[in-house]
Amino acid sequence: MTEPNSNSILFQWEEAEKTLKKFMPIMVAEQANVANTDILNPLPKEKQDAIKNIPFHEESRSADDVLQDMHDLVYKYRTKQNNPRFFSFIPLALSPISVVGDAINAFYSPYGGSHTLSQGMAIAEKSLLNWMGEQIGYPVKELGGLFVSGGSMANLTASIVARDEKLKDDEFNKGTVYISDQTHSSVAKGIRVMGIPKANIRKVKTNERFQIIPDDLRAQIEQDKKDGFIPFLIVGTCGTNNTGSIDPLHELADISEAYNTWLHIDGAYGASAILSSHRELLNGIERSDSVSWNGHKWLFQSYGCATVICKDRQAMSRTFMENPEYLTDVKSDDSNINFWDMGIELTAPARGMRLWYTLQRVGLKEMRRAIDKGFDNAKYFEQLFRAEDYFDIVSPAQLGIVNIRYYDDQHTEDEINEINHKLSEMAEQRNQSVYFTTMLNDKTVLRFCAINPLLTKEDIEDVVNNIKSDIASLGLIGQ
Ligand SMILES: Cc1ncc(COP(=O)(O)O)c(C=O)c1O
Repeated sequence: MTEPNSNSILFQWEEAEKTLKKFMPIMVAEQANVANTDILNPLPKEKQDAIKNIPFHEESRSADDVLQDMHDLVYKYRTKQNNPRFFSFIPLALSPISVVGDAINAFYSPYGGSHTLSQGMAIAEKSLLNWMGEQIGYPVKELGGLFVSGGSMANLTASIVARDEKLKDDEFNKGTVYISDQTHSSVAKGIRVMGIPKANIRKVKTNERFQIIPDDLRAQIEQDKKDGFIPFLIVGTCGTNNTGSIDPLHELADISEAYNTWLHIDGAYGASAILSSHRELLNGIERSDSVSWNGHKWLFQSYGCATVICKDRQAMSRTFMENPEYLTDVKSDDSNINFWDMGIELTAPARGMRLWYTLQRVGLKEMRRAIDKGFDNAKYFEQLFRAEDYFDIVSPAQLGIVNIRYYDDQHTEDEINEINHKLSEMAEQRNQSVYFTTMLNDKTVLRFCAINPLLTKEDIEDVVNNIKSDIASLGLIGQ
């Protein structure tokens, strides 16, 4: 039998301390300077090969040696989504406070799936989830809720609960789901994953502000009922990925109540506006049955921090509770529902502790101010774009997002699309700001998601001036 080795490097905590002490200053210096470095950092071919060629040795290597590889080959070649001039997707406006919370949690690694096994963590996370539910405006104190890896998992989890609350097992083929043409792709993906046919997903049209059209939704539901379908889930969005639009939440709630469907609101991005001074934009969200709300978007958390919050405390456990025999000693009771009984995962990290730490350490006043800054940034972008006739404001500032396109009447629509692609590419080549395109009403537009609170007025002026210079250099306006 192999003797245990008490000196095994696998279990030396002093090693962790020594290594982190050494590399912490390097990592901190790099992140603190992120605004002044290239945003896109594609991995050159020879470095790709270098990574592939690092063998897995029988013997250990020194921490210095391995970390050098990680620094020089792996982490260096990442897109710096936390550079304040990265405007694509929902940028990662990464708070170092969240990173500290995440690191501390990794050190202790409490068992995140259970109430019984890590009671301090469970009570801290549950009190945070209940507080978030209270901010949404849910009327009960103890809610169903779970930290998950992202908005996609949150939407999937809520959709499964909706299915089980509203459909019998033999009705899945008849169940219909209502989303809009602006709903995030993760929703339809989740609906498919949970076994509802793709043909039963109804994509309802949106209006000129990219919000779902309630009359069309109602008409579609009526038609489906006539055709023998069972409408069971409406997914509204609070903060669409493309334009930051918020669906008409009260009207969605009226329709949902009238047809006895589940109403889920995807607030993965936009629910954070609840904490801003623009809270009124989200009125009606409290009438939903469940909400997705990400930490790793507009609450400035490191990746892997999102929530699904459910008004009915028991609905999640009605769906997910299994009670296998080997967990009977630590099973849920009504007042302490284990997290594993509210979602798909059994073993999971305590993903919410970094957000708990952030809110405690930073305080709500600073959180609100940081979220408000995203609104102000987008408005300032819009104001500067409006000053030039050749910018078409395709979607004005909503939450932290604005969409524009260069436009003139000398070119065809296809050519205008090409020009806007070109403008995005010119920024990529400069590598000081990144704004990818998206499509709105079949038009290529430049999309700016400006939620990073470190973005300055001067940054915004600079970005707009650069676009104007690019347009001039393409010979489209006087140089
Ligand atoms: C509105 C919305 N819903 C869902 C998602 C998916 O979230 P995640 O990437 O965390 O899975 C996103 C991602 O950008 C989003 O903007």
